[in-house]
Amino acid sequence: MLSKKYKPGTTEEILGNQKQVFEIKKWIKKNKKGGALIITGPPGSGKTLSVELIAKELKYDLIKLGAGDFRNPENIKKLLLSSQQKSLMSKGKIIFIDELDSVSSSGFKAVHELIKQSPYPIVMIVDDIYSRKLVNIKKKCDIVKFYKIRQPSLMKFLKKIAEKEGIRTNDIILKKIVATSNGDVRAALNDLESLSVNPGEDNYRDVENKIFETINVILKTKNPENVRIALKNSNKTLDEIVWWLEENIKREYEKKEELAKAYDALSRIDVIQTRIMKRQAWSLQSYIPDLVIAIALSKNEKYKKFVNYSPPTFFLMYGKRKSKKLDALLEKMSKELHVSKKTAMNYLNLVAMLVKNKVIKIDKEDKHILFEATGQIK
Ligand SMILES: Nc1ncnc2c1ncn2[C@@H]1O[C@H](COP(=O)(O)OP(=O)(O)OP(=O)(O)O)[C@@H](O)[C@H]1O
Ligand SMILES: [Mg+2]
Repeated sequence: MLSKKYKPGTTEEILGNQKQVFEIKKWIKKNKKGGALIITGPPGSGKTLSVELIAKELKYDLIKLGAGDFRNPENIKKLLLSSQQKSLMSKGKIIFIDELDSVSSSGFKAVHELIKQSPYPIVMIVDDIYSRKLVNIKKKCDIVKFYKIRQPSLMKFLKKIAEKEGIRTNDIILKKIVATSNGDVRAALNDLESLSVNPGEDNYRDVENKIFETINVILKTKNPENVRIALKNSNKTLDEIVWWLEENIKREYEKKEELAKAYDALSRIDVIQTRIMKRQAWSLQSYIPDLVIAIALSKNEKYKKFVNYSPPTFFLMYGKRKSKKLDALLEKMSKELHVSKKTAMNYLNLVAMLVKNKVIKIDKEDKHILFEATGQIK
């Protein structure tokens, strides 16, 4: 995988965010005996990478903790005790909680305790800095914010890699990849890679542009027929369209009563979907389009503004899919790629593309789930 092959080996090679890297280094040196730092910023901007490289360069051991470790506070105590011994090679230790968001509300108590008692600095990465769970913790932490990687430096980076890899491409295609990646290096590398496997086909992010149009029609029109046509023409499943709506209604509708009506329709869709899942009552599916129309009709009038619709967040989709099989697949990928399950989700599309083009082989059942999850045609 390109994102693995071209992963920077030193902090100097990290694109952008050099000031942030410098600040983190300084912070760690200053907080050898404890303290807490939150790092936040957009996906694929090098947050996890930076912490790992900084620890390596400063010769600190990283003690990695995940959501599971906070389920039982005893674990944390044991860990602190067992990590007291100093190893010969390391200058110190850093407790590292990547993806603090995934710690449950009840687990946060243990995080609080840890911050109070830890003899080592604690570095935490957070997706949603405005999450309510963080209100209290934030008061005890310093914060470093990462930014998206700027287009010109991402462009240069991709060009170099395309050359080295002999991927046939041109400035227009690279520009498009850079623009759609939205400053996310991992996404850009994954797109470049899927292009190299599948040069003829449009890259998968174009599919996202199409869903953009579908959502745009539904949220902008007040004509039921337009909604039906948009649903019919979409290559996404109804479920997916609903996730997109759920994520973006709040960006489009402004009045309280509009939001109330739209969320009411959404919750009715949710009830139907649950019934379909539980009793395999597929016939109920036919009620969903009318409820999507209800979402469209929730607004008093059309908003003329431009809205930059966002894809449904991982947690929204993942929570709804609750598919044990998908979970198992992500688990496998996470072991294989040495990333968390959440990050593995970022690789689903690329892996699907690699499987589809027979670059890699996986077992039949996993393939089925993978294609279903990514909306690939078999
Ligand atoms: N600033 C960067 N410079 C060079 N490569 C990068 C950068 N950011 C990300 N990458 C590439 O993307 C991969 C993923 O990066 P990383 O895990 O650090 O992202 P992240 O900011 O932690 O994202 P997430 O919020 O999804 O966890 C890296 O292995 C690397 O290949
Ligand atoms: Mg990360």
